Amino acid sequence: MMEVEETQQIEALEDDEEEEAEDEEEEDDERGAQLGYVHVSELENHGIARTDIHKLVNGGYCTVQSVAYSTIKKLCEVKGISDNKAQKLQEICYKLIPGMSFITAAVEFQNRSSLAMLTTGSNELNRLLDGGIETGSLTELYGEFRTGKTQLCHTLCVTSQLPLERGGGEGKAMYIDTEGTFRPARLMAIAERFDVDSAMVLENVVYARAHNSEQQTKLLKQACALMSEDKFALLVVDSATALYRTDYVGRGELSERQTHLAQFLRQLTRMSAEFGIAVVITNQVVANPDGMAFQKDTLKPIGGNIIAHASHTRLQLKKGRGENRVCKIIDSPSLQEAEASFSIGVAGIDDPTE
Ligand SMILES: Nc1ncnc2c1ncn2[C@@H]1O[C@H](COP(=O)(O)OP(=O)(O)OP(=O)(O)O)[C@@H](O)[C@H]1O
Ligand SMILES: [Mg+2]
Repeated sequence: MMEVEETQQIEALEDDEEEEAEDEEEEDDERGAQLGYVHVSELENHGIARTDIHKLVNGGYCTVQSVAYSTIKKLCEVKGISDNKAQKLQEICYKLIPGMSFITAAVEFQNRSSLAMLTTGSNELNRLLDGGIETGSLTELYGEFRTGKTQLCHTLCVTSQLPLERGGGEGKAMYIDTEGTFRPARLMAIAERFDVDSAMVLENVVYARAHNSEQQTKLLKQACALMSEDKFALLVVDSATALYRTDYVGRGELSERQTHLAQFLRQLTRMSAEFGIAVVITNQVVANPDGMAFQKDTLKPIGGNIIAHASHTRLQLKKGRGENRVCKIIDSPSLQEAEASFSIGVAGIDDPTE
């Protein structure tokens, strides 16, 4: 019982602590989604020594975009990169990629209309989401256990590989699993439904299990390296918050936890823009200590507003009538707050059953 109370107090404190954590990250500029990316090796054609390019890659900067989007301060943290060199590198990178200065809304409209929407497997859900899960941005799925978060992630691992005209992203999928619930056999069943070769589907999904939050963050460096070599359309982190909750316990570690979580999320946001991929994270809910007994929603997603600010689209998954589930849009830059039902079947997410 004590444990529950302590947890609730901590969740209540999250909203205060996160402000500080966010200030630290504020300086990292957030850019609009870019289509395509340029590998850092391109810098060799612009007078940068190969040894410096190696330093960048070792520091996790594999694309020209990642260098351009970084702050000078962060670039200098790379071993062997001085302040002067960082400035020079960034100047060159700015020239190589579009979108680093003002563009018209008309051009941005063009850019956005070419972003793929990944089909969820349910027509009703796709309609709610104006096509599906958006690439080039971060979508959070939160909800109680058994509401279909992991099943939707599995379905997306298959649909992200489909051709554009079938609601796919024509790219590979990456899955970071912190809960041990990734099942390749599920992918095979889903592949069959979409009439694609299951062996190929499995080859096109790269998977890593993270056992602690440090490892979870480190995996992103490898992820960037892989994504700069191959076309990916999706990155799943299931769950994004669970390890932070177990690695940082008690009120004393809350501030540190929120800072690290914010950095992790910021990195994900950057990757969604850099590689034009859909980033999908899952999140659990806890009892809301501020919730009144008569209120319907007595559960709230963990991580405080740090997650709310980092996610472009927030979706809540709930149990619905019978075996159906309900997806509710909680926050979105372009969709109205509405709900749709779906079901979980042998072949993944599907339309609701009667
Ligand atoms: N092969 C399958 N065929 C049909 N339904 C399945 C299959 N595998 C799992 N399910 C259903 O999916 C549901 C679990 O969904 P899921 O694992 O996505 O939950 P979750 O939201 O990720 O929960 P948690 O918070 O515990 O991770 C269960 O109701 C289960 O019956
Ligand atoms: Mg799950």
